Parts: sequence; structure tokens; C-alpha cells
Amino acid sequence: MKLLVTGGCGFIGTNFIRAHLREKPEDFIVNIDLLTYAGNPENLRDVESQPNYLFVHGDIADATLIDELFRTHRFDAVVNFAAESHVDRSIETPHVFLRTNVLGTQTLLDAARRHGIQRFVQISTDEVYGSLGPTGAFKETTPLAPRSPYSASKAAADHLALAYYHTYKLPVLITRCSNNYGPYQYPEKLLPLSIINVLHDREIPVYGDGMQRREWLHVSDHCRGIELVLEKGREGEVYNIGGVNERPNIEVLKLLLEILNKPTSLLCHVEDRPGHDRRYAIDSTKIRTELGWEPLVSFEEGLASTVRWYLENRSWWERIISGEFRNYYERMYGNRKKLS
Ligand code: NAD
Ligand code: TYD
Repeated sequence: MKLLVTGGCGFIGTNFIRAHLREKPEDFIVNIDLLTYAGNPENLRDVESQPNYLFVHGDIADATLIDELFRTHRFDAVVNFAAESHVDRSIETPHVFLRTNVLGTQTLLDAARRHGIQRFVQISTDEVYGSLGPTGAFKETTPLAPRSPYSASKAAADHLALAYYHTYKLPVLITRCSNNYGPYQYPEKLLPLSIINVLHDREIPVYGDGMQRREWLHVSDHCRGIELVLEKGREGEVYNIGGVNERPNIEVLKLLLEILNKPTSLLCHVEDRPGHDRRYAIDSTKIRTELGWEPLVSFEEGLASTVRWYLENRSWWERIISGEFRNYYERMYGNRKKLS
């Protein structure tokens, strides 16, 4: 199989490409990535020399380049990870999110339609469903109700992808996963940011009361789910992927401090994120029963191995935090009001 993977130099794309090339060395992967602040070509340095891997530096919203790529490579399938992915940044600059997440996806869908692709897997998120009350969980049939510019742009992309399935019979499949964690995650996200702050004996910024709930899934379990959908999923269908591991942020952070043997006095409640979604929980019965997926990594085990990865790969994140990230951190946290 010849695969176009987009955004492969980001967190999940990197983990997906590494696992796919390991499991299916007979496949060929072209990875197109714009190398925004979140894209890091170092993540895949060791696979660059493999004859079944090609990196293309480019923008998924560049229709000419995308058309050229499809014409040259005659892909069998597309897995679209490329996105602006951070909620806090979407509050600062929504237009960048619309350009990549919506127009970029539409550009890929158009090219896939013109060039007769067999599978188009759109990587989406549980955040498109909005915020849950204290009970219940998102099903694939739950109406979309996004509340941040990020989730609104991902919901728009999902609607477009399904529109291409219904209108043009493009073989689209959508995955909607809960919060991922694991190696190669950019330090703007809660877990790597907290790990790195703690390693510097800096406080962890806890938004609001810290009682927002997320369902954490190890990135390797997400990638196995995507593989199953790519291989065996039904066209035009959405598959939720989640780990039955719902926890309040504050509990996640206390577990992290325990692993790192640091005091809870490092937890610092700060002004909340505007429009902060209170709770996500996902019902993944469909992918479990139809495709036989199940998560393999427990949260305790996965968090401990993720901490080890950040300890063993200091130079990876030290380079990041000395670059663009410094300005971001200062902007985001420098003047944030402390609540405790
Ligand atoms: P990330 O921010 O780490 O990586 C995104 C990658 O996309 C980067 O390499 C970036 O350079 C690239 N990119 C951005 N704009 C591009 C463009 N216009 N053209 C080409 N490449 C571009 O994101 P991630 O956490 O790896 O998320 C990947 C996908 O999974 C996203 O679509 C996201 O919405 C979805 N998702 C993420 C999570 C999570 O917890 N991280 C959970 C569910 C779904
Ligand atoms: P994040 O990793 O940004 O993922 P998402 O917003 O997509 O769920 O945040 C996870 C949770 O942690 C979310 O409820 C926001 C919260 N959070 C903090 O409390 N402090 C932080 O510094 C960050 C980045 C997030």
C-alpha cells in the first residue's frame, strides 16, 4: 500500500509513521508536513534513509502541490493528521486553524476525489462533541457541538469529509479520539508541559479548579485504532476511540507528581481557559465490537513510561523550549492571574 500521511512530524503522526513502518515494511509512506512550530523533522530522522519513506515539506492547503503529489505517487490511502491542534492557540489565532484544519482538509479531499483514492482517514477528536455534563459519554451519533475555535474547525472538517462521502462517494472514514499522551508530544499540552515544569521545579499551571475531566489514551493505542479503521473500517462511518480512563486534571497531575516524587505544592491554580470544556468521555463500543480494538496500555504504566521518555530525551525538549516555545509560554502564562 502507498500511503499519504499528513502532519507526520507532529506528535501522533510521528508515532503512527514509526509504528506503521515497523509493522508493515512493505508499505510506502509519503509524509507531507509544513513544519509549523509543532512539526519536528528530528522525530523521524532515523527513518529518513529508509527506501519506503519520503518526506515532503509542504502545506496541505496548497492545491497545486497536493495535486502534483497525488499525480506523482498514485496513493492508495490518505491519513490526515495535519492540523493546528492546541485549544489555547486557537483562542489567540482562530484563522490559522480554519485555514489548515478546514481548507487544508478540503484541498486533500478534492485531490483524493480527483485521483481515485481507496481510503481517506480523517483524524478527528472527541472535542467536536462539545462539553458533557456529569454523566453519559459521547457516541458517534451524538450531535456535534464544538465550543472552541479548534474544535469548531475540526467539526467543520468532519462535516466536509462526510459531505464528500455522501456527495461524491469518496471512501472517507473518521476517527474521533480522546486526549492522547506519550512520546514526542509538544510541551504546550498539559502532560509534557507539567513534566518539564516539574523537572525545573517550576509550578504547574492548573486551569481553574482543575476538576475538568478528560479521558487519557496512550498514543500507541490511538495509532492501533487508526490502523484498524484504515484496514477494516466501513466507508462513511465515524469511529470513536477512547480509553475508559476518565480523570479530573488535578488527579492526573497528582499522579504525575507522585511518579516524579515531587510535592503537590507545585500545583498552582491559575485563571481558567475561556470557554473551557468541562468534561469529555467517549463511548468506544463501536470500534471494540466491529473492529476488535481495545486499549493495551494502562494509564499508570503509560504515564510512567512517558515520564521516562522525557527524562531520557532531554535534548529533544530542551531544543524546543529554548525556541518559539519561550515566547508562547511567556504570553500564555506570564501574566496569568494566580488563584492559589
Ligand atoms: P501536532 O500539533 O503535534 O502536529 C500537527 C502536525 O501538523 C505538525 O507536524 C505540523 O507541522 C503539521 N501541520 C500543521 N499545519 C499544516 C499544514 N497546513 N500542512 C501540513 N502540515 C501541517 O498535533 P497532534 O497532537 O499530533 O494531532 C494530530 C491530529 O490528531 C490532529 O488532527 C488533531 O486534531 C488530532 N487529535 C489529537 C489529539 C491529541 O490529544 N493530541 C486527540 C485527538 C485527535
Ligand atoms: P490540553 O493538553 O491543552 O488538551 P485539551 O484542551 O485538548 O483537552 O489540556 C488538557 C486539560 O488540561 C484541559 O482541561 C486544560 C488543562 N490544562 C491546564 O490545566 N493547564 C495547562 O497549562 C494546560 C496546557 C492545560
